[in-house]
Amino acid sequence: MHYIEEGMVLGIGTGSTVQQLIEVLKDRKIQLKGAVSSSNQTADALRIARIPELDLNSEGTLSLYIDGADEATAAGMLIKGGGGALTREKVIAAASEKFVCIIDDSKLVDVLGAFPLPVEVIPMARSYVARQLVKLGGQPVLRAGVVTDNGNVILDVHHLRLTDAPGFESAVNQIAGVVTVGLFAHRRADVLLVAGDGGVKTLTP
Ligand code: A5P
Repeated sequence: MHYIEEGMVLGIGTGSTVQQLIEVLKDRKIQLKGAVSSSNQTADALRIARIPELDLNSEGTLSLYIDGADEATAAGMLIKGGGGALTREKVIAAASEKFVCIIDDSKLVDVLGAFPLPVEVIPMARSYVARQLVKLGGQPVLRAGVVTDNGNVILDVHHLRLTDAPGFESAVNQIAGVVTVGLFAHRRADVLLVAGDGGVKTLTP
């Protein structure tokens, strides 16, 4: 993983791919200054790996953010939030100079939307936001029993075919009560590392 340098502050996402990355950092004894975490789950894994957790407010702009995704296009546009950590993931991606996204080739698609799009919503706005999402052509389903690290709920929006992903991201961002849409079309990945049978391919959209 030649993007990671000793002594750096790493922005780090959430999910099984990130868990594996933290294992690699631990096993290879790569000494970071610390990491800015996108979730309580990742913070727990950092603690076990003895990587100091740092506060984004104190660190300013980060040089590197690494995370997985649920779907990606070759242009670096992503659906994220299957693990529910989309809001902090989006903040750290926005605050980082480089966003490296690691996926396997089953997640690479021509058009985003087969994976239900997560939208984090403040609880009292749930029903209103759901109605607006229907007007945008989606079928929102409340993620049962899930409260995010920020105390909100998630609507997973089914039956989308996002031929204009930046436009859809902007439209959802306009709905009152939406905290974050898990569509990373404006702030995309800068580098996609795509694992497949033939090894890892690097795409730089
Ligand atoms: C977490 O909220 C998500 O955005 C994850 O980054 C995404 O779901 C990928 O997770 P896996 O690495 O577990 O596939």
